[in-house]
Amino acid sequence: MEPVLVLGGTGFVGRHLCEKLVRAGYPVTVATRAGTQTSPLRCLPRLNLVQADIHDAPVLGDLVAGHRLVVNLVAVLHGDQARFDAVHVTLPGQLARACHASAVRRLVHVSALGAETAGPSMYQRSKGRGEQVLREALAGSATDGCIVRPSVIFGAQDRLLNLFARLQAWLPVLPLAGAGCRFQPVWVEDVAEAIVRCLSAPTPPAPVIEAAGPDVMTLRELVTLAATASGKPAAHILPLPDTLARWQARLMELAPGEPLMSRDNLASMAVDNIASGQFPGLAALGITPASVAAVAPGYLGQRGPRSGLDGLRRGAGR
Ligand SMILES: NC(=O)c1ccc[n+]([C@@H]2O[C@H](COP(=O)([O-])OP(=O)(O)OC[C@H]3O[C@@H](n4cnc5c(N)ncnc54)[C@H](OP(=O)(O)O)[C@@H]3O)[C@@H](O)[C@H]2O)c1
Repeated sequence: MEPVLVLGGTGFVGRHLCEKLVRAGYPVTVATRAGTQTSPLRCLPRLNLVQADIHDAPVLGDLVAGHRLVVNLVAVLHGDQARFDAVHVTLPGQLARACHASAVRRLVHVSALGAETAGPSMYQRSKGRGEQVLREALAGSATDGCIVRPSVIFGAQDRLLNLFARLQAWLPVLPLAGAGCRFQPVWVEDVAEAIVRCLSAPTPPAPVIEAAGPDVMTLRELVTLAATASGKPAAHILPLPDTLARWQARLMELAPGEPLMSRDNLASMAVDNIASGQFPGLAALGITPASVAAVAPGYLGQRGPRSGLDGLRRGAGR
């Protein structure tokens, strides 16, 4: 099996992807900024976890060398223009150039639905520019580029449904920004499987794949589903008008740590996050995506918040 390098492999999608790659027999290298000793990925056999500064071009070049397949999952949800540019634009460009220099066979870059250079948020514009930079760097290269654009991703340890399930456990009324924005939630296992299939196909399946689930749901509907799937009564949802929503996001930005929602997140919800239909979807990869209503009760219900690691724990003894 060809060796795979995964950048951002310690994250939500990465943990599911790494488990699938290891089960399929791929030797996997994961680069992380964090210490490697306590990572749950350490329990996976044939997975080499290395601490590295992937923003340093020579370091990145050394990491890429020796791999035939590369996946980029690195992203940030919050920050200023410089942070979005460094992670979503500069890094994919450097990575594509490193892949070309090392004759990597395929680079799978995970972007997002709504990645547009003229999008309403810094997140979407930087994702759009990152795709552009990556395509330019791979033009005429022996490395195939494959871009996967997911809608919001659900699954054990997701951010969105777990957060709203927790909030509704103690809030009877929930003021909600972007309540009418429509999403096409996609299961993390389906996204991970799509990446594996993009890597393993003898020829690139498509330059861009839209990874979206079977249901189109408003944020309001998703929030209600988070409560019912976790066995709690749904809160009364109070959709916030734009001005109040911006004030709420501004206040959340002032709280310590990563904000629950920033003004940039709010700006992203000015447009629906659903498949455009201009590019192939998961069906083109032979995947029938699971619905959030079928999957969410399994991890929001009785099981603990760390149940997402169960798969990794089960694999540890093999
Ligand atoms: N989750 C969703 O709902 C969703 C929806 C649409 C698209 N996506 C896309 O799917 C991909 C994977 O998302 P995810 O939810 O798995 O993300 P995640 O959980 O936040 O993981 C991203 C990983 O990137 C690495 N990283 C973050 N900031 C970095 C930085 N400044 N420099 C270097 N590495 C950094 C981190 O690894 P270390 O800390 O180990 O270095 C982290 O584990 C991303 O491209 C994201 O935009 C996700």
